Amino acid sequence: MRFALLLHLLGAVVWIGGMFFAYVALRPAAAQALQPPQRLALWRETLARFFNWVWVSIAVLYITGVHMLSSAYGSHAVPIYVLAMAAIATVMSVIFAYVYFAPFRTLKREVEAQNWPMAGGALNRIRQFVATNLVLGLITLAVGVGGGLLG
Ligand code: HEM
Repeated sequence: MRFALLLHLLGAVVWIGGMFFAYVALRPAAAQALQPPQRLALWRETLARFFNWVWVSIAVLYITGVHMLSSAYGSHAVPIYVLAMAAIATVMSVIFAYVYFAPFRTLKREVEAQNWPMAGGALNRIRQFVATNLVLGLITLAVGVGGGLLG
C-alpha cells in the first residue's frame, strides 16, 4: 500500500507539476523571448516529450489506484472522496487523450509544414485544455489529500 501510494503520488507530481511548469514558467518565457517559428517548434518538441510522460503517469495512477482500491477496501464501501478522485482523474485523462490526438497532432503537422498561424491556433487550443486540466489536477489533489485527512 505504501509503495503503491508513493508511485501514485509520483504519477500525480509528474503530470500536475509538468502542467504547472509549462503554463506558469515556459509559456510566458517563450512568448517573450522567441519569435513564432522558434516558439512553436520549441513547444512541439517539448510537448512531445512531456506528453509521453503523461501517458506513463496516467498508467501509473490507474494501476496503483485500482490496486489500492482492492487492497485497502476489498469488499468494503469505497469512500466518496476516492470515487471523486477517480472520476475527476478520468475526466482529465479523456481531455488529455483528446489534446494528444487532435490539437497536438495538428500542431505537429503544421509546424512540419511551417504554417505558423495554424500551428499557433493549435497551440492555443492545447493551452486552454492544459489550463483546464491543471485546475482539475489541483482539485483532484485537494480531494485526495483533504478526503484522506478527513477519513
Ligand atoms: C490526477 C489524478 C490523481 C491524483 C492527483 C490523486 C491523488 C491522490 C492522493 C493525494 C492520494 C493520497 C490520499 C491520502 O492517503 O491522504 C491518493 C490516494 C488514492 N488514490 Fe488517487 N489520485 C489520482 C488518481 C486516482 C485514480 C485514477 C484512482 C483509481 C482508479 C485513484 C485511487 C486512489 C486510492 C484508492 C487511494 C488510496 C485512498 C486511501 O485509502 O486513502 N486515484 N490519490
